[in-house]
Amino acid sequence: MRSKAEAPSHCRRLTVRRLTPPPIAGNVQDVHPEEIEVSLAEKLRSQMSLPVIAAPMFIVSNPDLVIAQCTSGVIGSFPALNARPAEKLDEWLATIESALAAHRKAHPEAKIAPFAVNQIIHQSNDRLDHDLDLCVRHQVPMIITSLRSPADVVKRVHDYGGVVFHDVINVRHAQKALEAGVDGLVLVCAGAGGHAGTFSPFALVREVRQFFDGPIALSGAITDGNGVLAAEAIGADFAYVGTRFIATLEANADSRYKQMLVDSSATDIVYTPYFTGVHGNYLKPSVAAAGLDPDNLPVADKSKMNFGSAAGPKAWKDIWGAGQGVGNIHEVLPARALVARMCTEYEAARRRLGLGR
Ligand SMILES: Cc1cc2nc3c(=O)[nH]c(=O)nc-3n(C[C@H](O)[C@H](O)[C@H](O)COP(=O)(O)O)c2cc1C
Repeated sequence: MRSKAEAPSHCRRLTVRRLTPPPIAGNVQDVHPEEIEVSLAEKLRSQMSLPVIAAPMFIVSNPDLVIAQCTSGVIGSFPALNARPAEKLDEWLATIESALAAHRKAHPEAKIAPFAVNQIIHQSNDRLDHDLDLCVRHQVPMIITSLRSPADVVKRVHDYGGVVFHDVINVRHAQKALEAGVDGLVLVCAGAGGHAGTFSPFALVREVRQFFDGPIALSGAITDGNGVLAAEAIGADFAYVGTRFIATLEANADSRYKQMLVDSSATDIVYTPYFTGVHGNYLKPSVAAAGLDPDNLPVADKSKMNFGSAAGPKAWKDIWGAGQGVGNIHEVLPARALVARMCTEYEAARRRLGLGR
């Protein structure tokens, strides 16, 4: 690991760990045909209207949401497990691919971001081989892996030219993921929706930047363009935004869930391992509606974790996940309108700080 004194400054463009990343399926190669030394983060950014990766969310993310996100210029994603039964995944991938191709044809000048599929690497995920085979066949541009080491996934994805980002909550996991060969890291910090870490983004990004200068996406309570710029200022390349996209028309979430996001603020979020065996953030009113006291939940153990086809959806279906950013969600919007608003906020924040366009 680099010493603290050698840590790179976030104020200059970093030399990337891998200067010639594998081409991303789609048209990344076409974007900078003459520039072989463009970093992976820059290649991705060149296809985006805003440096945002819309986070994969269990049950919530679906093809309509992903298509709206990508055609608005932010990377859209969904967990493979959301396509149920497993045979649906093929259909979902084909739907997304053809919608993005049609949009590209109709709007050749538009920024259309690539999409990503999230794979949970855990012994209870009995669909992993099937789902990964399909992603390889479809050459999904980006795979986001969660939990265990993604080494096997990395090789298969690199073989067809895709990229792998792995989500981590601490430095040890970040180092292990890099040893496994991932291209980018998602730093899941305090206040993130769903399974979340406990570290401040100011602490974790700067520690990780001391040994990794490749793409970093920062996750945790980012809900608008101000937060996106803040993530970049700390040293991340992308903001990783989950909860804000639940309050969109396209999201597959009960209308009462969306309304609860609008009505809630940070004090309405409880951080507990009770529902899945891993610490996560949930809306207290949904816990109370299930007949439990959100402020006095018993402790659960890790053996409860189950991400396979037999996993009961109760934790996410009835107990609603959300990050601490909920206090900044005031209405349910179409995803395109949300991204457009985030772009406006981002540009305004840049001007406010004297950064220009
Ligand atoms: C309802 C919900 C479901 C989630 N499901 C997943 C998932 O299946 N896989 C995953 O990697 N992350 C999942 N996450 C975490 C998000 O990918 C992301 O890290 C988080 O939402 C970012 O924080 P934010 O919600 O404060 O924006 C989920 C988050 C929420 C709110």
